[in-house]
Amino acid sequence: MSKRNVVILGSTGSIGRSTLDVIDAHPGVFNVRALAAYSNTELLARQAAKYRPEYVCIADQSRLSTLKEQMGKTEARLLAGEDELIRLAELSDAEIIVNAVVGAAGLRASLAAVEKGKYLALANKESLVAGGPLFPPLLEKSEGAILPIDSEHSAIWQLVSSGRKDTIRKLIITASGGPFREYPAESFDTISPEQALKHPTWQMGSKITIDSATLVNKGLEVIEAVALFQLPVNQVEVVVHPQSIIHSMVEFVDSSILAQLSKPDMRLPITYALFWPERVSSDFGRLDMRELTQLTFEPPDYDRFPALKLAFQVAETGGSAPVLFNAANEVAVSAFLEGRIKFTDIARIIRATVDKISIVSDPKLADILDADRLARETATEIAGF
Ligand SMILES: NC(=O)c1ccc[n+]([C@@H]2O[C@H](COP(=O)([O-])OP(=O)(O)OC[C@H]3O[C@@H](n4cnc5c(N)ncnc54)[C@H](OP(=O)(O)O)[C@@H]3O)[C@@H](O)[C@H]2O)c1
Repeated sequence: MSKRNVVILGSTGSIGRSTLDVIDAHPGVFNVRALAAYSNTELLARQAAKYRPEYVCIADQSRLSTLKEQMGKTEARLLAGEDELIRLAELSDAEIIVNAVVGAAGLRASLAAVEKGKYLALANKESLVAGGPLFPPLLEKSEGAILPIDSEHSAIWQLVSSGRKDTIRKLIITASGGPFREYPAESFDTISPEQALKHPTWQMGSKITIDSATLVNKGLEVIEAVALFQLPVNQVEVVVHPQSIIHSMVEFVDSSILAQLSKPDMRLPITYALFWPERVSSDFGRLDMRELTQLTFEPPDYDRFPALKLAFQVAETGGSAPVLFNAANEVAVSAFLEGRIKFTDIARIIRATVDKISIVSDPKLADILDADRLARETATEIAGF
């Protein structure tokens, strides 16, 4: 059997490294054609030495000379700049493009991969949040497919095949609730980046970890689910499940609810995506049900986590509204991590940005890029720096 050619965008991050673990666990199956990162030249060079891809890309152009130095003598072609991610997503002999970039910076590469008929193994949820309306027409015309890596969407993807789309009553997305599920509401103002970076169940990059603490991540996932499964937002529900064992559920019209369970380990949904439509033998996330003492569920607290409620409204509004929500959040999270704003300012800045900018109802790519830029400027202004 010939090897499957894979491109990994964001290879130095949490999902990128987990993807390489999955590839290591299945020797002889995949050929890594290209690796890309933003600025971590040291790890990128080490990965390149091990996997020997033809292309190695550093999105931050100013890091190219350091990358060259760290790569030493190499046959790989070195690329620099964010536009090169698109070129890698379109590589003619690549079958699977793993998009593990963080933020809306991953959008154009996702669109390019789908347009060129690739299997897009998608962790970069911001692509679907910002570019949701752009994907269905591309998917209709191409042989490509989106294979979700986000554990909740992977769960739903695995479950929806049990019934026709018109027999789905509800998608039930689970949320761990993050580190502040039981934290006193009056102390939210004092939450530090260090506290917010300690997630109770998942090890992830810093942006998604803060998103999980504010529940913005769950909001992004609601918008992502609407875009991916093409269902109205009133058929999407969020339930807090602190153990992170059930990764999501689907309720069908006969009131049957199906769930997908495993230990929290992103290598499981990554394996499912990389081998789809096959299931292969793998122990990542393996669960012994006899060890489970309890699975609990509770409704989300929208008063303490207002950004989740806003995400539902934004999903309902559609058009360019999710772009604004996402871009404002990216600005606010960076500012919070730099210690420039309070934890509670994140939701406030997102709300104020979404309220201030007019929504384009049927946005094209140019409208989305404009909305993204404007929302970043507006959020920066509102944050006061
Ligand atoms: N981690 C998880 O468990 C998890 C679960 C579900 C979904 N996701 C989603 O997966 C995506 C990645 O998350 P992560 O936790 O892996 O993030 P991460 O650890 O911060 O890694 C992000 C990766 O993207 C690269 N990158 C950042 N900005 C870039 C840019 N402008 N152009 C090109 N590359 C860029 C980074 O390079 P450098 O290392 O050089 O900065 C790194 O390789 C996010 O959309 C997240 O929401 C993650």
